[in-house]
Amino acid sequence: MPGSDADFAYLREVVLEESGNVLDSSRDYLFESRLQGLLHETGLKTIPRLVAALREQKQARLKRWLAEAMTVNETSFFRDAAAFELLEKELLPRLIWARESVCRLRLWSAACASGQETYSLAMLVREHFPRLNSWEVEILGTDISRDMIRRARAGRYQRSEVNRGLPALYREKYLRRSEDEWEVVPEIRNMCRFHERNLCEGLLPLEKYDGILLRNVMLYFPAQIRTRLLLDLYRVLPADGFLLLGASEQPGLPEHFQAELAENACYYRPLQAA
Ligand SMILES: C[S@@+](CC[C@H](N)C(=O)[O-])C[C@H]1O[C@@H](n2cnc3c(N)ncnc32)[C@H](O)[C@@H]1O
Repeated sequence: MPGSDADFAYLREVVLEESGNVLDSSRDYLFESRLQGLLHETGLKTIPRLVAALREQKQARLKRWLAEAMTVNETSFFRDAAAFELLEKELLPRLIWARESVCRLRLWSAACASGQETYSLAMLVREHFPRLNSWEVEILGTDISRDMIRRARAGRYQRSEVNRGLPALYREKYLRRSEDEWEVVPEIRNMCRFHERNLCEGLLPLEKYDGILLRNVMLYFPAQIRTRLLLDLYRVLPADGFLLLGASEQPGLPEHFQAELAENACYYRPLQAA
């Protein structure tokens, strides 16, 4: 039995409440395809039965599961080459210089999907900044989706995923063939850790992160959630830290973040309160 307009409206509401993601009613048809796995695994089988189960609230994790299933997990290694060039040529050299006395660097790939962004950061660090081998380097990847975090931790990718954006040099040095897939080598995996984290829950880490990548996720959030999240991130960035957003995203908080234009990319620097 297909879902009714009222069913889809309710599902959109639950997704917004759980993950902050706004879904457009013109794309309600996506529920059918994206929820196939959930409908099968829960035995609920149809959208109306799923809606009924959600309303009864008998399964605690069902709402979250629905929200996770509806996220867009599109990503790739070294997505947006200009941003990684900026990291390599400007942002990381400056941070490393500033952290010489503590020999510690912390980067956070917030909304890391299946981990390619996080591993790209680790490969970049390993390839271009060998002196960090003796530093304490932490590269954190977080995402709301349990499934994505499981995939990121596994560090195994299909050929098509590897062919999207990963330069041959990096593939040869930092991936190994494993049956039909490619696996990230332990040297790189050990630099990264992954956790489930909902960016809309306001439970951000208390520790400071020198650089935060929040790319291609804010566009799914309504303005109010975006602002709250950016203010949270502002609090975990040190004065000399940086925030990198997706190519088409902006924080829109001029009192908190200053846009810095590099040749082909842009990053945001936290401003000190006057
Ligand atoms: C389009 S992907 C972007 C991945 C990567 N940052 C990139 O630019 O390639 C968006 C990711 O945001 C995650 N996401 C959506 N809502 C989230 C939330 N409230 N908290 C944490 N992650 C969320 C999704 O699960 C998805 O993996």
